[in-house]
Amino acid sequence: MSNHHSQGFSRRAFLGGTGAAAAATAVTNKVAAQQVSTPVVDGPTSIDLNVNGKVMSAKVEPRTTLLDVLRNQLDLTAAKPVSADGSSGASTVLIDGKPAMASTTLALAAVGKQITTCESLLDDDVPKAFVQHDAQQCGFCTPGFVVAVRAFLNKNPNATEEEIRAGLNGNICRCGTYANVIQAVISLVKGN
Ligand code: FES
Repeated sequence: MSNHHSQGFSRRAFLGGTGAAAAATAVTNKVAAQQVSTPVVDGPTSIDLNVNGKVMSAKVEPRTTLLDVLRNQLDLTAAKPVSADGSSGASTVLIDGKPAMASTTLALAAVGKQITTCESLLDDDVPKAFVQHDAQQCGFCTPGFVVAVRAFLNKNPNATEEEIRAGLNGNICRCGTYANVIQAVISLVKGN
């Protein structure tokens, strides 16, 4: 029987190595969303999350993503599971006011933070502008876009078209609605 330790190899070292590789990949990923640090816990844990101004309870394992909790425990299904690595932008939510990918944020890392999902933006000007400018087709990417636009405009209320295009390049639409999305955001900047 082989002895991994005697060969200079251990499971801990392997896991540490894969973690470093994942971190290196994350650093090179162009998605502009924030990274949130995660506390260390053992096994399933009950947590409280502040979502859209309400405290909601969930039971999570250390590996459970925020997206999993939102969709499968809290019945908040606007954020979508398109890309596990967050590269589609479909799972965009706000954490403490900044855009983050719920698919790459561990639920434990969101404890103590203010989480905002697209469900809380129903009366916001952004979804209204999307409707006025016909900025969705199948709509699967739309909640992520709406949250990303809200975060972008909060920071860049007078953005130019070029800045809008650059600011939203972390969100992908398979239906190709980009032109109308940009027009919707331009209309919001112009206030019409
Ligand atoms: S409207 Fe279908 S993916 Fe964007």
